[in-house]
Amino acid sequence: MKSLNQYIYDIEVPGTRQFANKVDQYANSIDLTLGQSGFEPAEYIKEAMITAIQDNKLRYTHNKGLLELREAISKYTFDRHQTYYNPENEIVVTNGGSEGIDDILRTILNPGDEVILPSPTYLGYEPIIKLAGCNVKLVDTTSTKFKPTATNVKQAITEDTKAIIFNYPTNPTGTTLTYEEIASIVNVLEDTGVYIITDEIYSENVYDHKHHSFMEFPSIRNQLFVVNGLSKSHALTGARVGYVLSTPRLIEEVTTVHLYNSICVATPSQYGAISALKNGNEDIKKMNQAYLERRNYIYSRIQKMGLPVEKPEGAFYIFPDVSQYNKDSFAFCTQLLESEQLAVVPGKSFSEFGEGHIRLSFACTMQEIKEACNRLQRFLENYKNKEANME
Ligand SMILES: Cc1ncc(COP(=O)(O)O)c(C=O)c1O
Repeated sequence: MKSLNQYIYDIEVPGTRQFANKVDQYANSIDLTLGQSGFEPAEYIKEAMITAIQDNKLRYTHNKGLLELREAISKYTFDRHQTYYNPENEIVVTNGGSEGIDDILRTILNPGDEVILPSPTYLGYEPIIKLAGCNVKLVDTTSTKFKPTATNVKQAITEDTKAIIFNYPTNPTGTTLTYEEIASIVNVLEDTGVYIITDEIYSENVYDHKHHSFMEFPSIRNQLFVVNGLSKSHALTGARVGYVLSTPRLIEEVTTVHLYNSICVATPSQYGAISALKNGNEDIKKMNQAYLERRNYIYSRIQKMGLPVEKPEGAFYIFPDVSQYNKDSFAFCTQLLESEQLAVVPGKSFSEFGEGHIRLSFACTMQEIKEACNRLQRFLENYKNKEANME
């Protein structure tokens, strides 16, 4: 047999899936590994999808997506950020934010290019960069509360830098950036020619202050790709609707990659997305209120357990430091799963700068979170007792 793509061997099954796949082997297990809402999608979304099917809306759409959907995305974006993206030529609808990220990276990367990732980082970027024969440069954000700064971004840029990917609010840390923090980073990046990819898939999931976007800075408009979607905001991970916003020139090229990748997003999903964007504001608020209560609960329990932890300001993850128990986060998570049937994600899955931490998702029910905290607490107490007995 001929060889495979040489870069395929650099890619592993993500830590989130490795642990989620193990959960089923344990009766009475609790799964805090996956980033999806415990809420069901709203009725008006499902009705729009069902009606689309009944009306035989099952043919290909425009490659960029239904114009009505692009108009809804444009309005939704403008309402939140007072920034206009033209539905005709500055928006492409993709199969989730995931395909949007893939399309962008394949549009801009040549072998040997370097992409900067503030880290700990979402685990979906590095494999795509490596498959393109490119290199990742991680920027350590652990000493700045998981936020990149103008200084460390500036230091990371080299001649080979093609792009930098931001993800705020962040998976896995729950960190967000303020308007001023984005402004100081924009200052460093404008006029460098480096592409800025901002993955704002958790833009609706913020708890302490308004979400600000890189798109609010006109000086970087020509080098900016904004990725967003409905998976997290509207509890629609299975509908697979995401989108990319950029300039007409860049969207044209991204659309070409998207076209060869998947032609278009499933048509009933697009109709569901139109309804979600038009009718979803109240439900977003209700879900966020529930996540906020869960965030407050889990943060306070983890603090009481004595684990160092940043308060998540967005997304639905909390990322405590467990290195006082075990510096190897994979070993820690395996022991936790085996002894307490609690599945969480090892921090190392989010790059070497996540090592020593674990990621817990609080998008599930309050009951599950309470029980998960009881199990984690018991596990830590037993750990301490075992160590004391060995001394
Ligand atoms: C940071 C981040 N970006 C993108 C995605 C992919 O989302 P989608 O379902 O829109 O493909 C995820 C999913 O967990 C994510 O956490």
